[in-house]
Amino acid sequence: MGRILLPELERVLLDESTIKQRVRELAEELSLDFKGKDVVLVGVLKGSFCFLADLARGMSIPLGIDFVACSSYGLESVSGGNLSITKDISGVVQGRELIIVEDIVDTGLTLRELTDFLSSKQPAGVHTVTLLDKPSRRRMIIDPDYVGFSIPDEFVVGYGLDYAERFRELPYIGVLRKEVYLR
Ligand code: PRP
Repeated sequence: MGRILLPELERVLLDESTIKQRVRELAEELSLDFKGKDVVLVGVLKGSFCFLADLARGMSIPLGIDFVACSSYGLESVSGGNLSITKDISGVVQGRELIIVEDIVDTGLTLRELTDFLSSKQPAGVHTVTLLDKPSRRRMIIDPDYVGFSIPDEFVVGYGLDYAERFRELPYIGVLRKEVYLR
């Protein structure tokens, strides 16, 4: 059954079946690359919850699942660190392969700081997968190891991504109308 596009959205960027297909491909690729390894998927709250759930269920190797949450002060911050960890992972990571699971990489600040933070816990390795990448917005020298879709610089919502805590539950990814976030 087709869905009616929400009035706040300009268009659908990635529909449900396109996302499903690409997530399945990423799950297969990760399962091959990490076969025989002790792997933990580390979801970054809140935006990654849909992607992590589908990715984990598509993978064919045993997995640990953990979560981190952080809040960003932005790149212009003068208050010391640019990112504070508001929820740390809870499990043992030493000797394990951590895969940070992101919904989107924008400036790269979150991924840069989280990679450094988790590396300091002495896991076997820290790797990164993101569903969406906006390379044109990058401010930090970091690129995710695995990317679902490289997208243009538009305000996207759905499949975990929000605008003011709305739209996360949508099964597709849409472009928010400018009038919604500029008013
Ligand atoms: C988003 C996204 C990444 C980060 C990417 O999280 O989930 O964690 O921003 O941006 P960056 O590359 O510029 O650091 P957000 O802070 O919106 O929180 P949320 O996941 O709870 O929506």
